[in-house]
Amino acid sequence: MFAQINSLGILGIDAYPVAVEVDFHRGLPIFEVVGLPDTTVRESRDRVRAAMANCSLALPNGRIVVNLAPADVRKIGTLYDLPILVGVLLAADLLSAGCDGCAFFGELSLSGEVRPQCGALSMVLEAKRMGLHSVFLPEANAAEGALVDGIDVYPVRDVPQLIAHLTGAARIPPARPADTASSLADVPDFRDVRGQAFARRAAEIAAAGGHNLLFVGPPGSGKSMIAARLPGILPPLSFEEAMEATRVYSAAGLLPAGAPLLTHRPFRAPHHSVSPAGLTGGGSVPRPGEISLAHHGVLFLDELPEFSRPALEALRQPLESGEITISRAAARLRFPARFMLAAAMNPCPCGWRGHPARKCTCSPARAAAYAARVSGPLLDRIDLHCQVMPVDFHHLASSAPGESSAMVRERVLAARERQRRRGGVCNALLPSGVLRECCSLSSDAQRLLQSAYDTLSLSARAFDRVLRVARTVADLEGSEGIERGHIAEALQYRSSGLPGQS
Ligand SMILES: Nc1ncnc2c1ncn2[C@@H]1O[C@H](COP(=O)(O)OP(=O)(O)OP(=O)(O)O)[C@@H](O)[C@H]1O
Ligand SMILES: [Mg+2]
Repeated sequence: MFAQINSLGILGIDAYPVAVEVDFHRGLPIFEVVGLPDTTVRESRDRVRAAMANCSLALPNGRIVVNLAPADVRKIGTLYDLPILVGVLLAADLLSAGCDGCAFFGELSLSGEVRPQCGALSMVLEAKRMGLHSVFLPEANAAEGALVDGIDVYPVRDVPQLIAHLTGAARIPPARPADTASSLADVPDFRDVRGQAFARRAAEIAAAGGHNLLFVGPPGSGKSMIAARLPGILPPLSFEEAMEATRVYSAAGLLPAGAPLLTHRPFRAPHHSVSPAGLTGGGSVPRPGEISLAHHGVLFLDELPEFSRPALEALRQPLESGEITISRAAARLRFPARFMLAAAMNPCPCGWRGHPARKCTCSPARAAAYAARVSGPLLDRIDLHCQVMPVDFHHLASSAPGESSAMVRERVLAARERQRRRGGVCNALLPSGVLRECCSLSSDAQRLLQSAYDTLSLSARAFDRVLRVARTVADLEGSEGIERGHIAEALQYRSSGLPGQS
């Protein structure tokens, strides 16, 4: 007897169809899995056999051959346990149920419980794209699966429950979508930041135009504190953005329990010891890295020069393209990585260079070597460079809270709306040619920009950066034209005062 069950595989964050074919003939007991299975898939045999035995499903003696098609793609993982079990039951005539239009995936425990899988959201989306009407998946993945409308998602706790459903003895109720209302309650608020008007303004401009941002300043001046508050002033995630970001978390197995959909922008702050692969993703079973976990959110690199050079250089390509491609012998994978980069560093190893009161103990050569750990091309991709000064005593001691994130966010939203009406992309992503079309400079603004270009010997790239930031400053003010004041403010964020930087 022969049975075919629909299942899915996952490569990166993208799912693809897998057909589980089972052939059963009475005779000497053999259980084989073919179709390029890796060890975890081959071990399915033992889990399926034990789960069946422990759920009182005695398998008649016979030759079972399971083929996972397409047979030329390597199958990885434990997710085929459930479809193999259903296929074996059908092929051995232990179950008579119509499974057309259904997909199954899930790992089995030896006692027959169904264990969760990474990437369930992408797999349910793919099942819908394939035109299937139902997916049977592990109970723990039900909430994310239920985010996809137009397909029935059945949470399976264990094998007896699934059999009862398939035989019509007791139906499993389909999963209902959970409440996905957005709440910023857990995101830290700008209200806690005292003083630091310049750095706060830099954060606001960065959020308004989607610009990358670098803070340079002495220890304890509030750089990390301000960066952590960026998600709270960014525009809320659209449903499509939330689904994309959630697929990444689902593939990484990092979706928080009880929260199937990411409702606010992710903030990732990897430690500086992170490896290039930890940052960009990879591994023998490729998993998304920090830059993909920050997709549609903020990647914060604190103590920037302490990151390894290869890790920092690995950021350059995704910063341009918004995605990362990982090549493996078997396939090329693509992970999305459209994030806002926020970075912070001290101006020198001791941290006090340029401090108004404390003396820096670093030699100029040592300070220059420290700054040079961050390459020019990476700094070039950061539109806003902000020198953070120590908080002054009056601000710090004051009991008056700073302006709240909600108020800053309103201005950010208005500026983003202007950008949306103008062309759809935020200013940070405007290609050079379009940027010039979007920037009509007053004659005063033109003169100031020209004199800055001459006296500061700006490179063409630095010129674009100034123009781009000025565009955002004007958007925050609700101005279509770019005035002298906008250029003047943008010029303040051109250099972070690091040695070796003009
Ligand atoms: N502007 C500020 N308003 C209120 N509290 C502040 C401010 N700046 C710093 N602090 C306090 O100091 C602590 C340290 O700040 P933070 O970690 O942001 O400093 P940093 O600039 O990142 O320092 P480092 O260079 O050592 O990383 C904060 O947790 C906060 O309690
Ligand atoms: Mg810090």
